[in-house]
Amino acid sequence: MCGIIGYLGHKEAYPIIINGLKKLEYRGYDSSGIAVFYKNGYNLYKTKGRVYELEKKISSCKKKIKGTTGIGHTRWATHGIADHINAHPHVSNSNELIIIHNGIIENYYAIKIILLKNGFTFKSQTDTEVLVNLIEYLKKENKLSLEEAVRISLNEIIGAYSIVVVEKSHPETIIIAKLGSPLSLGINNKEFFVASDPISFINYTKSVLYLKDGEMAILKKGKELDLRKIIDNHRLNPIVKKLKINLKEIEKGEYKYFMLKEIYEQPKTILDTLRGRLLIPEKIICINGVEFNKDIFIHAKCITIVACGTSWHAGLIGEYLLEELTRIPVEVEYASEFRYRNPILGKNDVIIVISQSGETADTLAALKLAKKKGAFVFGICNVVGSSIARNVDAGAYTHAGPEIGVASTKAFTAQITVLILLSLIIGKNRSTINNNRYKFLCKELGLIPEKVDYTLKIVDSIIRKISQIYYNVNNFLYLGRGINFPVALEGALKLKEISYIHAEGYPAAEMKHGPIALVDENMPVVFVAIKEGFYNKIVANIQEIKARKGKVIVIINEDDTQVNMLADHVIKIPSTPEILSPLLTVIPLQLLAYQIAYIRGENIDQPRNLAKSVTVE
Ligand code: M6R
Repeated sequence: MCGIIGYLGHKEAYPIIINGLKKLEYRGYDSSGIAVFYKNGYNLYKTKGRVYELEKKISSCKKKIKGTTGIGHTRWATHGIADHINAHPHVSNSNELIIIHNGIIENYYAIKIILLKNGFTFKSQTDTEVLVNLIEYLKKENKLSLEEAVRISLNEIIGAYSIVVVEKSHPETIIIAKLGSPLSLGINNKEFFVASDPISFINYTKSVLYLKDGEMAILKKGKELDLRKIIDNHRLNPIVKKLKINLKEIEKGEYKYFMLKEIYEQPKTILDTLRGRLLIPEKIICINGVEFNKDIFIHAKCITIVACGTSWHAGLIGEYLLEELTRIPVEVEYASEFRYRNPILGKNDVIIVISQSGETADTLAALKLAKKKGAFVFGICNVVGSSIARNVDAGAYTHAGPEIGVASTKAFTAQITVLILLSLIIGKNRSTINNNRYKFLCKELGLIPEKVDYTLKIVDSIIRKISQIYYNVNNFLYLGRGINFPVALEGALKLKEISYIHAEGYPAAEMKHGPIALVDENMPVVFVAIKEGFYNKIVANIQEIKARKGKVIVIINEDDTQVNMLADHVIKIPSTPEILSPLLTVIPLQLLAYQIAYIRGENIDQPRNLAKSVTVE
């Protein structure tokens, strides 16, 4: 979590930093701050709350902020409450060193005690202030250059970081370093842009170097980049890549919120995820990462899917898909649990890690553990070049494009799309799916983008109506069965994240084992009740809710006439084979959450207490 940005060049730094921070706000928005450097000094501003508060504070000072070196930070609080004292940048005791940091320093307390004994004092409760003072202490004690003091300090700390350090008296040099948290460096003709995410500087340069764990760089104005290993100062060859993102992808355009834009992008993002992989009419599916490792998948005794949050829900859908189409047993695990329970893994085990950001700390740690134990790790990631994408043995990108709304939508459907493709390839190769079914599913999968588009058009007005009726309730239940049970979980997660209404998802038949006690005339219950599979069973579950006066909202197929009669509100979607249906059933649930949060006046893209990429445990 937290977003950091830095600039060193010949342009005015302030607009670059403040505009970059706005693009990084999805990573945390508890507080923000900037420092812009001039000869032998700097202007430092910090505030609790969002970047626009910071901008307001700065413009009310009516002071011109001038300087061509600058750093900025937007925070998701870990150590210490969200106030302006704990906001970054943090300054060392002598006022000489200034730092911004994303990550967590686990042994900060032990270091703080040593520093306190050596006369250091602390204003904030942060681990970051400890780090900047450790650098200062080692620099002075051992008469080191800044880069050497940073390097030696980093070898003393345990934890995760991406940092930018500047010395007040030498603002023409900045030191950056990374371990565990993302850091990219944009280079444009000896101008340097540093950030947690390159989208914050993409309008200046598309030439990017992704620092690897254990790397640091010394950036000097007008000079070539100097890349080093933190452990031994060994010089490294920088590998600069060209980014493919275009600016439109990271702008809201005509939409009020990124989440809505991203929901409406899904016909395109699913198509992009299928592009070049599902070839129609030949009905050939090819994913390079699977193709090159086909034997590993074909002979897998079991597959474990590991992820967090929405990606974990996609994993649950993957379990249904893989078991149904490949007959390989699948387990789905929360990354945070998996990594700490000493899982039994060996050489022939297959692990699939799923992550939109590719930076989720628990998923990354689970991946590393699985690799250490000799398993083959396949990644499904959205962010190109992310830590997870770089660490897996093989993988498939989801091609959903940058997802900025904190509530994941288009990444989810893209993850399911990859899981469907993967299941079809393995199933075909293991002969666990017959040719006719394979061809039929390929054809139907090819129709999904159009059907998502159609769904978005036909559900809009009914969802607005339903949202007007229920936006003020305190609780919601979401029920589904089979492959649509995880969709119910996802619907509930979307609602609670952005509207703060308590919502729970359950397998519909579990109701009578407890949750049905909650049902009364005030409880809206959303059912995913499409026609295939468990239809009759779910109709019975709907009747059970009606008998207890619950308000029933159903998602059904357009040609359904039975549930139509039973429900209070009906949301119709086109038909598709059940195994592909999550790609359609989740669309109205995303929109319902959005509309309810919108009516309640919530900040949809930046819900309280959350951040887009969870790079701490
Ligand atoms: O980037 P990841 O997919 O690894 O993120 C996992 C979760 O943090 C994420 O899905 C989270 O639950 C979202 N806020 C859900 O909308």
